This record gives sequence, structure tokens and C-alpha cells, in this order.
Amino acid sequence: MKEFIPSAYSKQVESGAVGWQSPSNIALVKYWGKRDPQLPENPSISFTLDACRTKTIMHYSPKIYPGNSLSFDVYFEGEKNEAFKPKIAKFFERIEQYCPFVRDFHFKIETENTFPHSSGIASSASGMSALALCLMSIESELVDSMQDDFFKKKASFLARLGSGSACRSIEGDLIVWGEHDNIKGSNDFYGIQYPDEVHPNFKNYHDTILLIDKGEKQVSSTVGHNLMHGHPFAKNRFLQAHENLSKLQAVLKEGDIEGFIKIMESEALTLHGMMMTSSPYFILMKPNTLKVINKIWNFRNETGLPVGFTLDAGANVHILYPENDSVRIFQFIKDQLVEYCQNGHYICDRIGKGASQLKVKS
Ligand code: DP6
Repeated sequence: MKEFIPSAYSKQVESGAVGWQSPSNIALVKYWGKRDPQLPENPSISFTLDACRTKTIMHYSPKIYPGNSLSFDVYFEGEKNEAFKPKIAKFFERIEQYCPFVRDFHFKIETENTFPHSSGIASSASGMSALALCLMSIESELVDSMQDDFFKKKASFLARLGSGSACRSIEGDLIVWGEHDNIKGSNDFYGIQYPDEVHPNFKNYHDTILLIDKGEKQVSSTVGHNLMHGHPFAKNRFLQAHENLSKLQAVLKEGDIEGFIKIMESEALTLHGMMMTSSPYFILMKPNTLKVINKIWNFRNETGLPVGFTLDAGANVHILYPENDSVRIFQFIKDQLVEYCQNGHYICDRIGKGASQLKVKS
């Protein structure tokens, strides 16, 4: 996208530090399947979360050994971390034409998550979006002026090149990524705030995340996405995502929580259905994932309370419910579901407003 390739920078900076904290997000209509360069095969929509965040501080200074190579160190929760470097190096290479200054500085990247390490919660969305925002803060110091709108758009665009779902973590509270005929401004390159009417029923929505299995995923998202190439059901799945997003538009407008739950749960099970029917096939749900799902269905049938679930590419269960019924539903979670969590761990989250800048001393 030419729009994001900078002309020569007008200013020079020596060194400094910038920081952002950026949230995770939970997709209602899922992104599963991509093509080069990190473009989605179907549109997706997500709630931006609030409590699950990554905080990243990026120090930049002159390189000790000038030249064309990338120069950076990563610290995770205060300790030097080599494991994250290849992913970040790949990200820098992918965005180089849009941020040529990545080869001009040495970076010290300090990062930490507000959610427990190895909780099985995907940190790529919050992590990559925080990194993209830091890079945009540096870029904004290299130019005379930058519009806020451009800053956010390009941050989302860069974040996408790090991890697709990360482009939905810059702003709140409902974000669409991927072109959809009925959603104005939607496109495959960056996330946009959902532009249409949303009923107050969906304000302050809760997401309690049950940590069913904190182990490393057996199959990475990237491998999973790639298995959609040549998948026998891929074409219909991509069409279905378009249709589900159209249906969701009406549901969001009317405040139809029952309709909302139907689409959200069907999307979650379809995502896992795609994994179970790919070649090679795999299952990321655990026995306790299914126990929780059945408990939620029983409770909903018995009480009529509007509680539903969704899943990411893992065993953890996101339980979504509206503010109005939150007290009774949270009580149910504590009484009947927490026992299925690994070490009884869960996270109380809710819909959030997006990333925010950190004050940092250089
Ligand atoms: C199941 O964004 O983690 O969470 O683009 O390869 O980094 P990469 O994948 P990633 O995929 C997330 C998939 C999902 C559904 C979703 O968030 O829409």
C-alpha cells in the first residue's frame, strides 16, 4: 500500500524511548485462512478487550556497528529473551519498506503482559500491536506532523504484518478487518472501528476467560491458517463468514443477544471444525473445554440467561455475557465452571477502548 510508504523523513532524531500498552481481542466472526502478505481470506470482527494487555517500551539509539543489519535486544518481564527475537526480526523485515528507520537504530525492546505468562492466551495480538504503535510513535518524531487518523491506520496496517489479528487491537470496541460488501471502509489491509449502529445491550459486554489448558499449543495459528489452502470446505467457510457478518450487523443493531450467541458459538465451533477436517487434522479442545460448553448450554436452557461462549485456536473458553445479567452469570461461572480450569485460573475481562500510550523516561 503506497499510502504507508514514507517519503524521506524530514527530521533526524538521535535517541529516545516510547511506550504503549495494547490489549488483546476476541473474534466473534473468525479470521482463519490467509494469503500473502498477511491478507485475510474472509472478513472478521472482534471485541477489543481491556484487562489482557501487553506493555512495551522501545528505546532507540544509534547503532554501535553502522550497516544494514537489524540491531535489537528483547527483554521479557525484565529478563533478556532470545526466543522472541526471530518473530520480531521477521516482523521488522516485513515492514521495512514502510518503516525504513528500523535499520537505522539499535532498539532495546522491553515487554511484559498483564495476563499470566503461558496462560495459553494469545499474546501475539497485544504484543504485535504494542510494537507497531511504538514504531509509529518513533516515525511521528521523524516527520513534521502526523494526523491521528493516519497514525492509527498505519499502526493497524503494521500490526497486521506481525500477526493478522493484531490489527484489530489498536482501537475499541468493535473492530472489523477484511473487506465486506455491507461495511463501509472495511478492507483487507487494516482494521476499522465498526461503523454501524450498535444497541446498548452490547456496551460493557463481559468476557470471562477460563484457562483450561496453559500448555504450549501443538499447532501454531500460522500453520493452522495455511491448512486452509486446499481445505475441502474452505470456499464455503469463507462465504459463510461474509454471511455471518451480515447477520451480525442486524443482531448488533437490534440488540438481539440470542441471535448474537447463535452466530458467536457457531463461529467458534466452525473454527474448530475446520481444524478437525484439515489435512493433517488436529484437535485443540480438551475434555474440559467440552464439559464447560455443555454446562453453559444446560445453564442457559434452565435459566434463560444470555450467556454464550467462543473459542480461539486453543482449549480456553471465552464466556461472553451482557452487563445487565453479569452478577448471576458470574456466580454461575464461579460455582460451576472454575473447577474445570487449570489450577482454578480464569481472567475477568470486558470490552475495552483500545491501546494507550505510556509515559516513558528516555
Ligand atoms: C483463531 O492472528 O494469531 O484467533 O496472522 O498467523 O499471526 P497470524 O494468526 P493469528 O490468528 C488468530 C486466529 C484466531 C481467530 C481470530 O482472532 O480471528
